[in-house]
Amino acid sequence: MRKSAIIFLSVTSGLSLAAAASVPESGKNFIDSLMSEMTLEEKIGQLNLPVGGDIQTGVVLGPELDKLIATGNIGGFFNVKGVDEISRLQHIAVEKGPHGIPLLVGADVVHGYETVFPIPLALSCTWNPASVERMARISAIEATADGVNWNFSPMVDICRDPRWGRIAEGSGEDPWLGSVFAEAYIKGYQGDDMKSDSTLMACVKHFALYGAAEGGRDYNIVDMSRERMFNYYLPPFKAAIDAGSGSLMTSFNLINGRHATAARWLLDDLLRKDWGFDGLTVTDYNSIPEVASMGTSTLEEAAGLCLKAGTDMDMVSGLYVKYLKDALNRGEVTEKMIDDACRRVLEAKQSLGLFDDPYRYCRPERAEHELFTKSHRDAAREIAAETFVLLKNDKNLLPLKKQGTIALVGPLADAPNNMCGCWSMFARTENHASLLDAFRNAVGDKAEIIHARGSNIYYDAETQNRATGLRNIPHVGNDEELHAAAMAAVEKADVIVAAIGESSDMSGESASRAEITIPDTQRDLLKKLAKTGKPLVLVLFTGRPLVLDWESVNIPSILNVWFSGSEAADAIVDVLFGDSSPEGKLTTTFPRSVGQIPLYYNHLMPSHPDPEEGLFNRYCSNYIDCSNEPLYPFGYGMSYTQFEYGHPSLSGDVMEKDGKLTLTVDVRNIGERDGVEIVQMYLRDPVADIARPLKELKDFVRVHIPAGETRKVRFTITPDKLKYYNANLDYVYEPGEFHVMVGPDSKHVHTLKFTAK
Ligand code: NOJ
Repeated sequence: MRKSAIIFLSVTSGLSLAAAASVPESGKNFIDSLMSEMTLEEKIGQLNLPVGGDIQTGVVLGPELDKLIATGNIGGFFNVKGVDEISRLQHIAVEKGPHGIPLLVGADVVHGYETVFPIPLALSCTWNPASVERMARISAIEATADGVNWNFSPMVDICRDPRWGRIAEGSGEDPWLGSVFAEAYIKGYQGDDMKSDSTLMACVKHFALYGAAEGGRDYNIVDMSRERMFNYYLPPFKAAIDAGSGSLMTSFNLINGRHATAARWLLDDLLRKDWGFDGLTVTDYNSIPEVASMGTSTLEEAAGLCLKAGTDMDMVSGLYVKYLKDALNRGEVTEKMIDDACRRVLEAKQSLGLFDDPYRYCRPERAEHELFTKSHRDAAREIAAETFVLLKNDKNLLPLKKQGTIALVGPLADAPNNMCGCWSMFARTENHASLLDAFRNAVGDKAEIIHARGSNIYYDAETQNRATGLRNIPHVGNDEELHAAAMAAVEKADVIVAAIGESSDMSGESASRAEITIPDTQRDLLKKLAKTGKPLVLVLFTGRPLVLDWESVNIPSILNVWFSGSEAADAIVDVLFGDSSPEGKLTTTFPRSVGQIPLYYNHLMPSHPDPEEGLFNRYCSNYIDCSNEPLYPFGYGMSYTQFEYGHPSLSGDVMEKDGKLTLTVDVRNIGERDGVEIVQMYLRDPVADIARPLKELKDFVRVHIPAGETRKVRFTITPDKLKYYNANLDYVYEPGEFHVMVGPDSKHVHTLKFTAK
């Protein structure tokens, strides 16, 4: 035990890198031994995670890192781009820092690094965990090649409120699907071997309930029953922990009056004791002082409260370094709490193999060859096409033919820096094609492409500035004139493609919207284009569900392309011309009106249910001025072909305790093209200890069906799929009648019943 510490210390005193790399790392005893040599200040230093200066992802800016590292005052840093600089900083830690402890190097690699994939909400619309795992693996390869070893992803916050801009970063509204994807992200980032050079330690976030911020306003508070949090908001976190996430980030919000970062019941009782999580916890950006400013402690007490609650590392605030010793002296925390937190930081470093080789992520030759490669970009293009959701396609207007005159109109038609969406700060936007480039490239001389910008993002320049702050789209010209120029341009077009919607920065962090329609001037442009009566395709860019009440009636074809990454333009054109087909289905409900929010498919029965869909009935749970129905339900998405569902059957009417039932349904491709269908299975417990949703997704099958053929799709129903957290928060099912539903989306289902013993 002693030996490893001595060898390790010799690394710090100038052994060559090759010698350092060959030092075998021992087990837990190594950490004991190392910690026995560390002062209290050095242990607290390991808990400090300042931000570097390259990239800004919050309001507080970073300090100068060199000195902090050399004096042992930090355990890691984040937001520094590039292997050379990261390597330089790692060298300071190893060669000059006390004990030469290597650093964690964090980043938000949320949907790709230099090769950018679709935003997570879009990725979830693939219903394809294999694609998410593939994207996460490629992200890990690229980020680790450039020096990063810790990833602040996946974001698994369930969200039922599309006003919240961060809905773009998660996997939608469903806890079961969210859990499937949570696991896929972790597997992709961390691979099979934590010590491999391309392993990126995952950090599941934001624990917890951030997606339920009141009013959809970012950083707002949350107040929620335990039944709701356990059944709907926490499952994806549990799934990520069970899949082995190495770390977890707390969230910004109050939960029932306590800041999530200082909530001991959440971080210690639930996460550590009940779920058995033994990894590293870290605050979100500057959260510790917010524990004070949100009214739950004084500034001096906040650090101690967070540590005591179970938060190991302090991102940005520096308050652990400033106040933990005082808290110890006042008896508010114990030395053991500091030791435990420090141990978890060191264990995270050890799990990544950093003590074996502190420079395992610092190989410039990898950065040269493994970033933004052809094969990574090909994968991004393929996966992007899987995420698009065809919302409407009258008279099979899509796919388009490469012929005649095609007008490409709208402020997003020629905006290559706006293809990636939020959290794409490592993107090489200078290498991105615009939709216009991709159109021209795809049609060559087979068709004529006319282009007109058509409008700004918003009429108002100031609103546009706010909406396009990070990836600027300049507000230029007068919108009436832009509309008029576009109308003149489309006169000789055979078909119009409108590239319209949100700009890249209108979703993500700090991007809440009160009106979630297509922005004003673009919507007016669309109305004018529709009036021409020409075939019109809306290529909709968005990071959230939008209210498309008018568009859904008046635009013949709507292809929702989200923000789909560095290869978005080619992927969109592939689908528009039918070289690939739209396969995605929605993982969030699209409302008809903002007033319906929160609107989600897995709701409970109201006391006076509405007997007639879409009609107003007095003394029933409905609106005078709007139907209860969503515009597009959870699970919805069209294809270039059509599928017909047969009558499902069950292998029996009774499921024995510990038994299972099989549900079988025939799905036939009755169209003329091959296609992929996402067949969904929902369950309902009509009578339970506490009310259960009218339906809950419990399985799906993604199946490729050639034109004219039928596939038999099978689902297995097990007791586990019937379980939920009851009023005592016991995870159980109650014997009795259950309903099982199968269909192409959450609305159009066929229901069967069975009894569970
Ligand atoms: C704040 C965000 O909430 C979090 O998701 C992110 O990881 C950190 N900033 C670091 O950039």
